[in-house]
Amino acid sequence: MINKILLAIFLLSTTLTLRAGEGMWLPQLLKALNEGEMQTMGMKLTAEQIYSVNQGSLKDAIVHFGGFCTSEVISDQGLLLTNHHCGYGQIQSHTSLENNYIKNGFWAKSLNEELANPGLFARFIVRIDDVTEAMLAGVTDQMSNKERQSQIDKNMAKLKENTKLGKFEDLMIRPFYHGNQYFSFTTVTYNDVRLVGAPPEMIGKFGADTDNWEWPRHTGDFSLFRIYAGPNNEPAEYNENNKPYNPKHFLPISLDGVEEGDFTLIFGFPGRTNQYLPGVAVEQLVETVNPARIAIRDAALKILDAEMRKDEKVKIQYASKFARVANYWKKWIGENQGLTSTNALTKKATLEKEFTKKLNTNLTLKGKYGDILPAFQDKYKALEPYVLSANYYNEIMGRNIEAMRIVSYMRRLVSSYEKSGDDGYEKYKGRILGRMDSFYKNYSPKIDKQVFARLTEMYGNADGAKEIAASMQNYLMGNGIRDYNQLADQVFAKSMVLDKTAVLAAINQNPAAALEKIKADPLYKFAVKISDTYQEKIEGRYREINGEIADLQRRYMAGLMEVFPDRRFWPDANSTMRVTYGKVQGYQPRDGITYNPLTTLDGVIEKYQPGDYEFDVPKKLLELNAARDYGEYATKDGKMPVCFLGSNHTTGGNSGSPAIDANGNLVGLNFDRVWEGTMSDINYDPSICRNIMVDARYILFIIDKYAGAGHLVKEMKLVHPRTDSSNNKSKKKMNKPVGAKKPQMQLKNESTEGTKQKVVPYRGGGR
Ligand code: ARG
Ligand code: ASP
Repeated sequence: MINKILLAIFLLSTTLTLRAGEGMWLPQLLKALNEGEMQTMGMKLTAEQIYSVNQGSLKDAIVHFGGFCTSEVISDQGLLLTNHHCGYGQIQSHTSLENNYIKNGFWAKSLNEELANPGLFARFIVRIDDVTEAMLAGVTDQMSNKERQSQIDKNMAKLKENTKLGKFEDLMIRPFYHGNQYFSFTTVTYNDVRLVGAPPEMIGKFGADTDNWEWPRHTGDFSLFRIYAGPNNEPAEYNENNKPYNPKHFLPISLDGVEEGDFTLIFGFPGRTNQYLPGVAVEQLVETVNPARIAIRDAALKILDAEMRKDEKVKIQYASKFARVANYWKKWIGENQGLTSTNALTKKATLEKEFTKKLNTNLTLKGKYGDILPAFQDKYKALEPYVLSANYYNEIMGRNIEAMRIVSYMRRLVSSYEKSGDDGYEKYKGRILGRMDSFYKNYSPKIDKQVFARLTEMYGNADGAKEIAASMQNYLMGNGIRDYNQLADQVFAKSMVLDKTAVLAAINQNPAAALEKIKADPLYKFAVKISDTYQEKIEGRYREINGEIADLQRRYMAGLMEVFPDRRFWPDANSTMRVTYGKVQGYQPRDGITYNPLTTLDGVIEKYQPGDYEFDVPKKLLELNAARDYGEYATKDGKMPVCFLGSNHTTGGNSGSPAIDANGNLVGLNFDRVWEGTMSDINYDPSICRNIMVDARYILFIIDKYAGAGHLVKEMKLVHPRTDSSNNKSKKKMNKPVGAKKPQMQLKNESTEGTKQKVVPYRGGGR
């Protein structure tokens, strides 16, 4: 009994107070919300040194990398540091059998050897402003969802029109707290970003899928790029004459490393979290959605794995695809286990009980929010018949049967012709030709056919996806097909989609003949039938209910903040710039096991398996290790640090984010989380949520000693914050990089100069 009471008190206190390490905070609100706590935890910087509109601050070194990862400027020559897995697509695009940069690594010896990457961009944030008032002008509680959205769209257009921007600036407006608050981000985007260096895969992807989402970790997951600018340091499209970009700020790199308990800050662009879901939503995720998508990927991965083991060529073709599918497959398994082991549902229930109790003591609040929790129950129940079908559809038709990609191109080709005639047809054809080349380069119809047979069978037998299942079964019956293997045989034997030459021959005819050929294709016909069923029976209603849920979630968020005014709320991640902070810290994954937060090169050697595709080690690295030839990058006791753990709250998109020490220096590079804590996207728990970083000293060691690219290290500013007396004397002094001594506000313009920002954190209440 006593235990039960203690448990209840514990659960209550953890749901009502913010948990240490939790939160992805807006940089311009740190002063109001976090500065004190951060300094208590050991930070020696001020909020102004992290984010300032008027002078160079840490934020000016933080770059959204291609919109999917984070990177940071680490020299006054625009040198960018990000993860190997973030630069993987670019590294692969420059790779050929003769120049196998994935296998052997790549190091530009001078600027003119750096490689251009069309389409890749580097985006800076100039300033962040609260635009809630303008965005919600004229919006009332009485409006329907549709009316509300249309008013917001109008307000956004007006706001964009009325905002004065500098020559190269853009304005991006995003909802926060599920639409209760809006911020605008003034951005400057550079489009000439070149590949500078990458370690061989045996270092950059060491441990591959076996070690992915795991601790202890030994991956040197980094790569180097460089931003190039046109005349006057301004953004410019790729041009030979462009010069390395001179930043407003770049991060010095600490050679002193970290110890357990040290303050760390992660600055980047986290993609998506769902921390404020009602219990009923988490239940649906744990019990329905995650098991379905895990099972689908499990089936597909088994087929891929078996074929990859049989054939070296297939292994190369499918390595990157396998990694992509396996990444979230493994994440969802960890997420489900973590949600269960941390009692996420009990915690949600406790919070909801407390919420209801508070409403019951206050009639006004009850009137405003009393309907929300029961409505969530109804809406998620209404969603249930659609949610499985939608997830099956996305996973099976949208991702794991690869040929569906080509089918979707064919569908667009058909509709382009039907809409805009020859012109439309030719235009879209021009767009897909290149993509088809890269698709077929890595395509095995033999594998895809097995995946098709297995996954259509799963879809056709899925209890929760009745409409689609019926449509599949009808298709089989209508065509006299016995089972899904026979379906695969028939469809794959006669479809042109499996063969690039056949597809090109078909679409290079005149459009009318091409359409006839496409529409007669058996795979195309099958896919059209299934996707028509999906669109008719599932998609519309699924979207509609989700829209209603989003509206409830907006009101619930406002309600939580108003009902618990003493609690500090952070806005869910939405791919905008955030700061998270914590400490270097280990954890206990299971009873009786404690993990240290630091790993060394000794662990690489322990895992070393000659010839294995995940755990092989390059010869040179073995030699450097045998000779203990670590240069100036070793720890005091002569070890080579590799990775470390922290209690910083991160998610997908934070890959490539700098880990910054108490003084504003780079000490590590974020790239992953631990498996037991992957539920941090839904239910952050300080006891087991940890982020994984590569130690900056390992990165420097690999660049300098392993790759012999010391010229790159010379560009950087290396510092010793623990021994540097100037740092110890003045507590609040940021280690200024050399490049920032000169006045470097090249992007000055009216909107960024000399402005005072009014910052008032949102306190709930909603509209
Ligand atoms: N789990 C990390 C993230 O979500 C790393 C993924 C890349 N590595 C891999 N083996 N798939 O991005
Ligand atoms: N590996 C992830 C990324 O690529 C980071 C994470 O999910 O922790 O952004």
